[in-house]
Amino acid sequence: MKIVVTGANGQLGKCMQDVASNFPALQCIFLGREHCDLQQFGMVSQVLQALKPDWVINAAAYTAVDKAEQETQAADLINGEAVGHLAKVCKDIAAKLIHVSTDYVFDGTATQPYVETDAVHPVGAYGKSKLIGEQLIQQLYADGAVIVRTSWVYSRHGANFVKTMLRLMKEKESIGVVNDQLGSPTYAIDLANALLSICQHPKFVPGIFHYSNSGIISWYDFAVAIREISGLNCKVNAITTAEFPTPAKRPEWSVLNCNKIQTTYGCAIPEWKASLQQCMTLL
Ligand SMILES: NC(=O)c1ccc[n+]([C@@H]2O[C@H](COP(=O)([O-])OP(=O)(O)OC[C@H]3O[C@@H](n4cnc5c(N)ncnc54)[C@H](OP(=O)(O)O)[C@@H]3O)[C@@H](O)[C@H]2O)c1
Repeated sequence: MKIVVTGANGQLGKCMQDVASNFPALQCIFLGREHCDLQQFGMVSQVLQALKPDWVINAAAYTAVDKAEQETQAADLINGEAVGHLAKVCKDIAAKLIHVSTDYVFDGTATQPYVETDAVHPVGAYGKSKLIGEQLIQQLYADGAVIVRTSWVYSRHGANFVKTMLRLMKEKESIGVVNDQLGSPTYAIDLANALLSICQHPKFVPGIFHYSNSGIISWYDFAVAIREISGLNCKVNAITTAEFPTPAKRPEWSVLNCNKIQTTYGCAIPEWKASLQQCMTLL
């Protein structure tokens, strides 16, 4: 089975390359922006029509959450319109599509983990742009696509919270970390394994699915665990979102209920701290 992964140079794209050897039955082809730029619609059509994959996994996205508030057009183009084009091309070549989306499509006012059918209401430009992508896929290729929403993604690759905390904890005697935004971290290696296991699953079920590691924590709890595992001495102080203003508003409570992907596709959902420990052996 031939799988094309877009966004190959991003955090998730690189983790997909790390785990591809766990799936010897899958022939994975990894395409970075230089070989498959989602904004260049002609290029996307041409490359995919030439490769004729059975599946396309879209790990490419505009992911600069704060910058998106200024660059809404760029975010909407890459996360919205271009995803719609990708869905059309996948339909034309009869390739199934796995698209990665985000917990930021929700407004974070829930008190129970979000299920896939909960009402969406993004509070920032990035979340809005990702929602456009989800909606276009559902309009254009609902029966051929799986949308996987995930949250708080980290790994040894790219820029992410774990790597930023480790750097700050080495540089400073104390740091303040937000304690009033709750969610579930996702180790990109776990997500990458889950996405490839969907391609191998005997039964294809299209639709929206949620995937994160299990457990509900704040960014402060996450930072404390990073300090514990690293053995660094930096003091971690709990602060409020109001004390750490950012250009983009973020959901306060963005926990995803991941039962559906577990029961439908049998994806493993490791506990957040066990996965963090695994990741940190590589850092
Ligand atoms: N990171 C998180 O915490 C998080 C949370 C929830 C959901 N997600 C979703 O998870 C997915 C993977 O995120 P990630 O953490 O791997 O992000 P990432 O590290 O920022 O990777 C995104 C990749 O997409 C590429 N890209 C951007 N515009 C492109 C275009 N026009 N054509 C082709 N490639 C393009 C980027 O290339 P360049 O390097 O050239 O810019 C980058 O390599 C995304 O869909 C994201 O929305 C992430």
